[in-house]
Amino acid sequence: MAAPSRLLIRGGRVVNDNFSEVADVLVEDGVVRALGHDLLPPGEAPAGLRVLDAAGKLVLPGGIDTHTHLQFPFMGSRSIDDFHQGTKAALAGGTTMILDFAIPQKGDSLIEAFETWRSWADPKVCCDYSLHVAVTWWSDQVKEEMKILAQDKGVNSFKMFMAYKDLYMVRDLELYAAFSQCKEIGAIAQVHAENGDLIAEGAKKMLALGITGPEGHELCRPEAVEAEATLRAITIASAVNCPLYVVHVMSKSAAKVIADARRDGKVVYGEPIAASLGTDGTHYWNKEWHHAAHHVMGPPLRPDPSTPDFLMNLLANDDLTTTGTDHCTFNTCQKALGKDDFTKIPNGVNGVEDRMSVIWEKGVHSGKMDENRFVAVTSTNAAKIFNLYPRKGRIAVGSDADIVIWDPKATRGCRSCVALSDNGSVYKTNMNLPLQCLANSRVHMEERTISAKTHHQAVNFNIFEGMVCHGVPLVTISRGKVVYEAGVFSVTAGDGKFIPRKPFAEYIYKRIKQRDQTCTPTPVERAPYKGEVTTLKSRVTKEDATAGTRKQAHP
Ligand code: URP
Ligand code: ZN
Ligand code: ZN
Repeated sequence: MAAPSRLLIRGGRVVNDNFSEVADVLVEDGVVRALGHDLLPPGEAPAGLRVLDAAGKLVLPGGIDTHTHLQFPFMGSRSIDDFHQGTKAALAGGTTMILDFAIPQKGDSLIEAFETWRSWADPKVCCDYSLHVAVTWWSDQVKEEMKILAQDKGVNSFKMFMAYKDLYMVRDLELYAAFSQCKEIGAIAQVHAENGDLIAEGAKKMLALGITGPEGHELCRPEAVEAEATLRAITIASAVNCPLYVVHVMSKSAAKVIADARRDGKVVYGEPIAASLGTDGTHYWNKEWHHAAHHVMGPPLRPDPSTPDFLMNLLANDDLTTTGTDHCTFNTCQKALGKDDFTKIPNGVNGVEDRMSVIWEKGVHSGKMDENRFVAVTSTNAAKIFNLYPRKGRIAVGSDADIVIWDPKATRGCRSCVALSDNGSVYKTNMNLPLQCLANSRVHMEERTISAKTHHQAVNFNIFEGMVCHGVPLVTISRGKVVYEAGVFSVTAGDGKFIPRKPFAEYIYKRIKQRDQTCTPTPVERAPYKGEVTTLKSRVTKEDATAGTRKQAHP
């Protein structure tokens, strides 16, 4: 059956980052065509128009996950969620666009890496996507390729790793050069902020102490290692007046550095991820090796259990700006590559499906942020920073119809139903026809309890296992097509599109350009010095030095 090209989402509360209102949304040919009250008289439904009743529900811009690594060849393995499964899972969680990373090896072409990632993603993606590109080494060729990527290939963000020594890590001078080029071509510089040298030394120390398990991963890279690199990156970016985006902010210390820098007027943005907002690093001390290993990622989750709340407060208050997931999943047998040595555990955790519900639960349900801020941090701010706005990140006439009908207050299923669902986790709701109770045909709506047994991510573990979420996506619409509804997908591999991004995003570059005009230092006008100038000798003799000391002592 051909999907109707017209949709009317009726009577929901349309939530943008700055405003909410009860309104109808008319979607035609993949875009929002009209927004207003009573767009269709009750009872009328012209042929070819599907009406979705959203009364009592929220109508949100689809989520934008700023940070994924699908089918990423990494640490001797390849992440298990590929562009097909990973983007399907994204849709099930209310995310309609992801930004993944093309990452060349040192010495390799950035453009070739970009094309390789496109050839992997294009035939498989179920939601729209874009690519950041990593700068893992420096040369004139890299500099030129960055320019081509920005001008011709739709890339306006480049990630530099300050960790993964000998693999991806670049040093300060390379950061300086890469940031300067980002500024020149109108891109935003991104950093994985950790001190790679300190991590390498710390890892040796832990192994020498006989600490081979996942706890060693955190112990060799404490918070200060992340905070130091964060400050260093901000200092270098500020020196070249380049906008900076710190990916996967994992610690209170690093978040404080970013918050202070923003208060100092620096153009810097921080991206906490679902993992750092939703769980913590105490899991590294879990007695089950596989449980601990499944939490290994870099920078690590922090053992300080107050970290998620702290990061969420900063996110609510605009000290931190966007949210991603760093979704980079490995099954237990892949994690087991490091069973005897934590440095060999492939780094990465899940989140692409979980992010929206986790942030709703810990951010909105908890009372830290309202529905508008939720939209800002899960979608709009990313669209603005990466120059996708208002095509993405907003429900407005002319915007892509990437929309989620969201139940903000899903309630618990009945006991018999939960029992029947095998693991206590049901992930099925239907806003028009509330789910029939499996046991006795009573009608109810259900909250979501996250579980690896029911999630759509390929990975066999979920770091949010057991988390009860009151905010759940009921219907996900991708460029005007209902792609996920009541637990059922209607999507084909390749339905998603690569979305190119232009350089010089206004949201970040207005301040940068103005500073170039008004804050560039100028020399002081003064009359030339006309007095005596001492003559420098090419070698300072022992006698000169002694005389100098004597002179200083008795001026
Ligand atoms: O552990 C992580 N974060 N894996 C993915 C690579 C990266 O550093 O983003
Ligand atoms: Zn990283
Ligand atoms: Zn990453």
